[in-house]
Amino acid sequence: MAARDMTLAQMYDLSGKVAVVTGAAKGIGQGIANRLAEAGATVLLVDIDAEGAQASAGAIEERGGTASSAVADLSTADGARAAVATAVERYGRIDVLVNNAGIYPMVPTLQLSEEVWDRTLNLNLKGLFFASQAAARAMTDAGHGGSIINIASVDAIKPIGNLPHYDASKGGVVMLTKSLAKDLGPLDVRVNAIAPGAIQTPGTTALPEGVIPDELRAMAEQLAAAMPLKRQGEPDDIARTAVFLACPASEYLTGSTVVVDGGMLLI
Ligand SMILES: NC(=O)c1ccc[n+]([C@@H]2O[C@H](COP(=O)([O-])OP(=O)(O)OC[C@H]3O[C@@H](n4cnc5c(N)ncnc54)[C@H](O)[C@@H]3O)[C@@H](O)[C@H]2O)c1
Repeated sequence: MAARDMTLAQMYDLSGKVAVVTGAAKGIGQGIANRLAEAGATVLLVDIDAEGAQASAGAIEERGGTASSAVADLSTADGARAAVATAVERYGRIDVLVNNAGIYPMVPTLQLSEEVWDRTLNLNLKGLFFASQAAARAMTDAGHGGSIINIASVDAIKPIGNLPHYDASKGGVVMLTKSLAKDLGPLDVRVNAIAPGAIQTPGTTALPEGVIPDELRAMAEQLAAAMPLKRQGEPDDIARTAVFLACPASEYLTGSTVVVDGGMLLI
């Protein structure tokens, strides 16, 4: 049924759909998994952190949702394919893939090593492509479409500094989103990206080397004060957008990057 013939509740309902979220043990991925499950999807939480992913899936089940976890390293093509294969083996299908797993090690340009470059690009860009390819194959083999959601970053649009490898990977994610949308649209697979701004997660609130807690807190408060919406983001700000992109409410969107940043790009 087309979205225009659905009620608002129907077009936000993901019952019967299977979603895979990568990097879902914590942070933005965990937030997205929570909301997709609340919308009715069966969710597979994939992460290299086995315990974290299991705990996050368990918490969804405790709230009455359907979820389980799997371990995979999304920085390899094999790991990316395994994430999708696990969902198909366990649940018989995949309808939604959220490519969220990503790293952002801050290193000044003059100090950046080949190892950090490769580690970042392998996870943020290569793994994302091969997971998307595997998901699109599984969807089309089963004779239905689906929605792929890539987590990019405002850094793809405006670099904050000391992250050239990250900025390149996220710029790549935005363009890859368009390439995949063009190639997969005729197969009824939509591909969109979300570009989060400053979101408070275990990854961003971890204390960088040489920075004292008060300093970090002051920096965070300064940033929040400068933001048009006067606060940093939280994982649920991204999760609500992911639900929209996953469900029929967004059926005419593909190739888009939705900026969710509280106005950060305007400062
Ligand atoms: N937090 C922000 O401010 C922000 C802003 C823009 C974009 N993003 C993007 O959002 C995504 C999530 O960020 P976050 O802040 O929630 O991160 P986080 O560090 O809090 O959590 C990332 C999760 O990914 C998992 N992970 C790491 N390497 C993996 C691998 N090789 N295979 C599988 N899983 C792996 C980790 O175990 C962890 O559970 C990333 O792609 C990041 O670039 C974050």
